[in-house]
Amino acid sequence: QANAAWGGRYAAGPSAIMQAINASIGFDRKMWRQDIKGSLAHAAMLAHVGIISAEDEAAIRDGLEAIGQEIEAGEFPFSEALEDIHMNIEARLTERIGEAGKRLHTGRSRNDQVALDVRLWTRDAIDGLDAQIADVMRALAEKAAEHAGTVMPGFTHLQPAQPTTFGHHLLAYVEMLSRDRGRLADCRRRLNESPLGAAALCGTGFPIDRHMTAATLGFDGPTRNSLDSVASRDFALEFLSAAAICATHLSRFAEEVVIWTNPYFNFIKLSDAFTTGSSIMPQKRNPDAAELVRAKPGRITGALVGLLTVMKGLPLTYGKDMQEDKEGIFDAAENLALALAATAGMVRDMEPVVGRLADAAGAGFSTATDLADWLVRELKLPFRDAHHVTGRLVAKAESLKVDLSGLTIGEMQAVEPRITEAVFNVLSVAASVRSRTSFGGTAPANVAAMAREWVEKLA
Ligand code: ARG
Repeated sequence: QANAAWGGRYAAGPSAIMQAINASIGFDRKMWRQDIKGSLAHAAMLAHVGIISAEDEAAIRDGLEAIGQEIEAGEFPFSEALEDIHMNIEARLTERIGEAGKRLHTGRSRNDQVALDVRLWTRDAIDGLDAQIADVMRALAEKAAEHAGTVMPGFTHLQPAQPTTFGHHLLAYVEMLSRDRGRLADCRRRLNESPLGAAALCGTGFPIDRHMTAATLGFDGPTRNSLDSVASRDFALEFLSAAAICATHLSRFAEEVVIWTNPYFNFIKLSDAFTTGSSIMPQKRNPDAAELVRAKPGRITGALVGLLTVMKGLPLTYGKDMQEDKEGIFDAAENLALALAATAGMVRDMEPVVGRLADAAGAGFSTATDLADWLVRELKLPFRDAHHVTGRLVAKAESLKVDLSGLTIGEMQAVEPRITEAVFNVLSVAASVRSRTSFGGTAPANVAAMAREWVEKLA
């Protein structure tokens, strides 16, 4: 049986495999709200400019609202033969209201319709994700405020580097996530133009009002080139890039949670709520949520690379290839949302093991830089020489199996005779972090002020 939408030209229906590869209803049904919203705006505009009657518009509105309820109630008869969400809804509308339903598609094509729906869906996703990122930032900033002075080791190369504080470390992620919000906001700003009315590719001869539908749908205005309108998905690529970068940030944090909860580190505790046991090993506490957050860039970055690859070399304008945009976008948005929710949960749940962090902060000769700086400040040694002297002191301490502060003044003076007792004042972890007062530095007073600023900004 020939397709109702193009049966005039067709005597026969598609082969089973044609239908199977062509249909998108299995996934694009997710855009039903956006599709109905776009059709309502389009119908209102058609009536406003006199292309359809007010009665037809009223019938279309009632019909679409009823269909929305059907879908919400799980009673809508989705059909693969009707290919996608656009034709499923239109066919059902005509079934319900007759003639008027067939007038809805005047001056419109599925090409501008789908471009519109995907933009609306992505815009909604951005708004939801933005609020979720803000929530993770809030959780981090609040925890950071509590632990502005909780010392911990700072790492480079995952080797002990200099003492920092737990709060300072958490606030590093707040900065990253803040830029993620900025990227999504930029994407939203460029995305916020309505392609509706570009029709198939060249616009339409009907006296439609694209400015009106754009305004109704909350866009800043209509897109300016009809070919571009139906051919472009760079808004989706931008969204996926921003999502992939954000997922990458979450993944780095998740990896730290995995490391920190490892008993050899024992830097933080996660409660039963954010760990799982093993079905065979009774002692286990596995940080599964963190591991899954760590893994999410696999699919999210995959969606970005997938769509870039679909779009590459695609001639203007619309090609069915572009139907492959949706699953990646949906999956990326849904999984980023999950990762954000899990991260917010873990941040609120985690408790630093303060004593253990303090011990670790002092291990590995972590105040060696403070010692070198002291030699520069007090003995006026050039930094390179101070570095060398400190290196010799570290080697000595290491051979004696003590910390730098465990060396006697005599042992120090054997390396550099001008060293005085005052040096011991800079060798403690507390002194080290307290001294790092440069803007953005790790001094607890700095960190407390930054954390407070973020908590207020995010309130
Ligand atoms: N399901 C299609 C998509 O997702 C809708 C647009 C189809 N347009 C067309 N001319 N076949 O891209």
